[in-house]
Amino acid sequence: MRIHIKDPQVLVRKDGLFAVEKKDVFIDGERIAALGEAPEGFAPDKVIDGTDKLVMPGLINLHTHHYMTLFRNIANDVPFHEWLFDNMMPREDHLTEEDCYWGTQLALIEQFRTGTTCFNDMYIICDAAARAALDAGSRAYLGRGLVGDENDDGGRLQMALEEMERFRGEPLLRFTLDPHAPYTCSPGYLKKIAAEAAKRDLLLHYHLSESEGEVQTIREKYGVMPVVHADSLGLLDQPIILAHCVMAQPDEIPLLAKPMVSVVSDPASNMKLGNGFAPVPRMLKAGVNVCLGTDGPASNNALNLFRDMTMMALVHKGLTKEPTEMSAQQALAMPTVNAAKALGREQELGQVAEGFLADLIILDLNAPELLPHNDILSSLVYSAYGTEVETVIINGNIVMENRELETIDEERVRFEIKKRTGIFG
Ligand code: NI
Repeated sequence: MRIHIKDPQVLVRKDGLFAVEKKDVFIDGERIAALGEAPEGFAPDKVIDGTDKLVMPGLINLHTHHYMTLFRNIANDVPFHEWLFDNMMPREDHLTEEDCYWGTQLALIEQFRTGTTCFNDMYIICDAAARAALDAGSRAYLGRGLVGDENDDGGRLQMALEEMERFRGEPLLRFTLDPHAPYTCSPGYLKKIAAEAAKRDLLLHYHLSESEGEVQTIREKYGVMPVVHADSLGLLDQPIILAHCVMAQPDEIPLLAKPMVSVVSDPASNMKLGNGFAPVPRMLKAGVNVCLGTDGPASNNALNLFRDMTMMALVHKGLTKEPTEMSAQQALAMPTVNAAKALGREQELGQVAEGFLADLIILDLNAPELLPHNDILSSLVYSAYGTEVETVIINGNIVMENRELETIDEERVRFEIKKRTGIFG
């Protein structure tokens, strides 16, 4: 389909920074064909009026567990270990593939409504997230959470590899290998997974240095801090996405700045579980590629990256008592260009630019919280709620138009979720 977005403001990238410029956007098939002037002979199938609208790159949620919508608002206000080991893991044992499918579809409704077009999901039941993402038309990076040791992981690694084969060739889906955490995976198992990822040219996605409890456990077991532990196993010398790194110490940060490492900060989840604050300003200064995630909706408890961008910027200004420590530019880069870099796709994702994939969102600039238009860019971080998102385009397909979902049967999802309420409560 050819789409012409007429007369909008556009968040573009200029000399390594974001800028807002008025220019038309032309989409041809899955890519952005041009900005400004129409390509020769361009005959649109659809024209979208961009008056008082902003076109910006769809946001990329680099760390989530979408199926956990089913556990949302269970076990609030309890310590991290009690939350995880006593409340989440026992419930996960009872989930079926259909539960996870509907849980993920609910997550996708929320993610579309708040402008996220791609999610990096660590889940526990194969096929459900992939089917849910495909049916909704979302771009997705998917990995089965892996726990165990090199001799016995309950067949999880094999299941993950077989799942990849089943969905091979789907343009919206890519798979990762996801060792869960250093306290649920043995060193031998981590090495085995890393070798498999290197052999198959896959990204790794791993929870690391999330809590004080984890630091204690890893120090007692291995005598080192978690980031040092990961590095000693060679994990930081291949493409890897590290969720959290809350407890990273100053001498660990250079390890996180290694060229194939990206860190996903999840400020809402870290605060809600009482785990603290990742040293993000320090990481940025050291050249770490810092991205943004919601984490699962059972520890956030939302899937709204606009909300998390606001938190990211405000929290670090407050913590450091230095308002220059985190700019709107830096916060906006995390779920866009930085995330694209983490995925190894900075040449085709994360920007509204000619030749890039058409993953973009259109916001209503007449929303009262965005008026007046003194500084549209900053308003996206400091004023927007995410509810300003009207239209969502992924891979050139419209999945939401004027707030109407085109690919998800919202009523059915609500029915399926309500049916399951109480089962997991
Ligand atoms: Ni997580």
